Amino acid sequence: MDQYVLAGNPVAHSKSPQIHAAFAKATGQDMDYGKLLIPVDDFKEGVAAFLAQGGKGLNVTVPFKEDAWKIADIRSERATLAGAVNTLYVNEQGQLCADNTDGFGIVRDITKNYGVDLTGKRILMMGAGGAVRGAILPFLDEKPAEIVIANRTVSKAQDLADTFAEYGLVSASAYDDLNGYFDVIVNGTSASLNGTVPVMPDGLVDANSLCYDMMYGAEPTTFLRWAQAQGVNKCVDGLGMLVEQAAESFYIWRGVRPETAEVTRSIREQLL
Ligand code: ATR
Repeated sequence: MDQYVLAGNPVAHSKSPQIHAAFAKATGQDMDYGKLLIPVDDFKEGVAAFLAQGGKGLNVTVPFKEDAWKIADIRSERATLAGAVNTLYVNEQGQLCADNTDGFGIVRDITKNYGVDLTGKRILMMGAGGAVRGAILPFLDEKPAEIVIANRTVSKAQDLADTFAEYGLVSASAYDDLNGYFDVIVNGTSASLNGTVPVMPDGLVDANSLCYDMMYGAEPTTFLRWAQAQGVNKCVDGLGMLVEQAAESFYIWRGVRPETAEVTRSIREQLL
């Protein structure tokens, strides 16, 4: 049976095995997806050992996404620009191929599952770490009017804006200096982890905006509570992104695109 794993440290609480098992069952794929805990300094060796015993592909999570980028022989364009990799597999020539499906996952969740067309829209990305970096190219592919990246450390937002300038209109801002209306705000900061939201001016959003937190949980995140208080109706957490990035990895490995709605619904139920 073809073997796949989520490689990370830690991996114990991951929902990926459950998601991929559901995809495999629904699409009739004969495969197994497990967890691979790799010591923090041994990523390359851990991947090599897994592939040597016949492993077909890996998802990669914290803290190895940049290591996965480094060890790859071939990277997709979106992985190259993301600077991080969450999907690895070996091609017929024996080369280690790398992709990043995280940004695809959030865009697909927004456009397909929530039916929001991003074309011509004004989008705010909060944060300038790996999560936001991985999402910018997939968002630009949807031809928005503009992406503004706001970050506590503005120079990091400016670096990202410079990196992606040739792909579309991308600018950097401090949170306090934000102005105008945003159709979509994506929170890619880790501020929610300590229950805070960067302070932003009122009036950036209205009832028709979409606010999306890359984090998810049983309760609305601090950012989504801020969005509700601003009168936003579409307040969405990142569970759909998790399932959609998994579906895209599954498609890369197996050539079959699984349905996601039922899987997302069942994981949501378990969270509650
Ligand atoms: P990831 O790879 O998950 O994106 P990261 O690279 O550590 O994680 O980035 C975390 C992001 O959250 C950064 O944009 C960080 O802002 P700085 O670049 O200024 O550090 C942001 N962040 C974390 N805690 C924050 C807080 N309390 N307020 C505002 N931004 C915060």
